[in-house]
Amino acid sequence: MSQSDPIRDLSLEKYALELDTEGLTIVPPAVTGVDKKLFDQCSEVLLDKFTEITGGCGITLEDGPTDELHWPNPPRSPLRSDDAPEPTQMLIQQLLQLDRCFRDLFVNPVTDALIGHLFGRGPDGTRNWRFSSTNSFVKWQGEYGYGKHLGLHCDQGANPLPWGHTALTANATWALTEYTKEDGALAYVPKSHKSNAHPNHPFAASRAVAAECEPGSVIIWPGTTWHGAFPKKTKGLRLNAVAYYRHHAVLPQENMKVTMRDQPWDDCDDPDTMKELIGFADVFPYEKQNQPVPQLKTAA
Ligand SMILES: [Fe+2]
Repeated sequence: MSQSDPIRDLSLEKYALELDTEGLTIVPPAVTGVDKKLFDQCSEVLLDKFTEITGGCGITLEDGPTDELHWPNPPRSPLRSDDAPEPTQMLIQQLLQLDRCFRDLFVNPVTDALIGHLFGRGPDGTRNWRFSSTNSFVKWQGEYGYGKHLGLHCDQGANPLPWGHTALTANATWALTEYTKEDGALAYVPKSHKSNAHPNHPFAASRAVAAECEPGSVIIWPGTTWHGAFPKKTKGLRLNAVAYYRHHAVLPQENMKVTMRDQPWDDCDDPDTMKELIGFADVFPYEKQNQPVPQLKTAA
């Protein structure tokens, strides 16, 4: 009897093939089956959170931040040159803790199947992948586009070369607003994952294209694909919800085994998948002696 294959079961062959040949695929909401209401809720929660953590700055999808902002501690990044303009983008982290809408989104079976296509499964059928972090990039109008190289990089770049065929990290970016080049879409280099190496500049940027898609689409790529972003030239927001994954042998960005312990992680569409993706049952990294200890035998 053949094993169950989620790619075949969910008719995702076209998207899996695109991941293999192009190093990126875009799945529309009609295929993931996610309702527009869930995306609207995600956007609402993110805008409220933005206002809360910026100390009260208003924000709308149509206009972006409606009050003036300043950066007491601007983000440091090797992707950003010293003379770069002030950032017009910020990261809202730990989405799993924010609201159930993100927990439901991040156990979507279509995305889970395609991410599984990149990482594979163990001999017992368990997932080889876990969450590394969950974030939202809130991006508004400005020249912040990581400069002339578009910030092109590989997400699994911290792992030593040579890389193999199996992904070490992967990204599923849910577009909550329309993605166009003018609107500051993700930039990527088709087929660049086949180099299995870091991008070479300035060649990489000359080959970059925009990942353009309708709101509600999910953009998926492995940690080997060269990607960055175009500057946002239009008013309003580019908003997303990102689930970033790791091979279970790769270090996570957020220590979810600890940070999610007292959170309502099982309040979602698929608590079993959520439990496995957070890594609650993983042997490593352990927090106390986890191997059996013999005990002194006492006389009866
Ligand atoms: Fe990246």
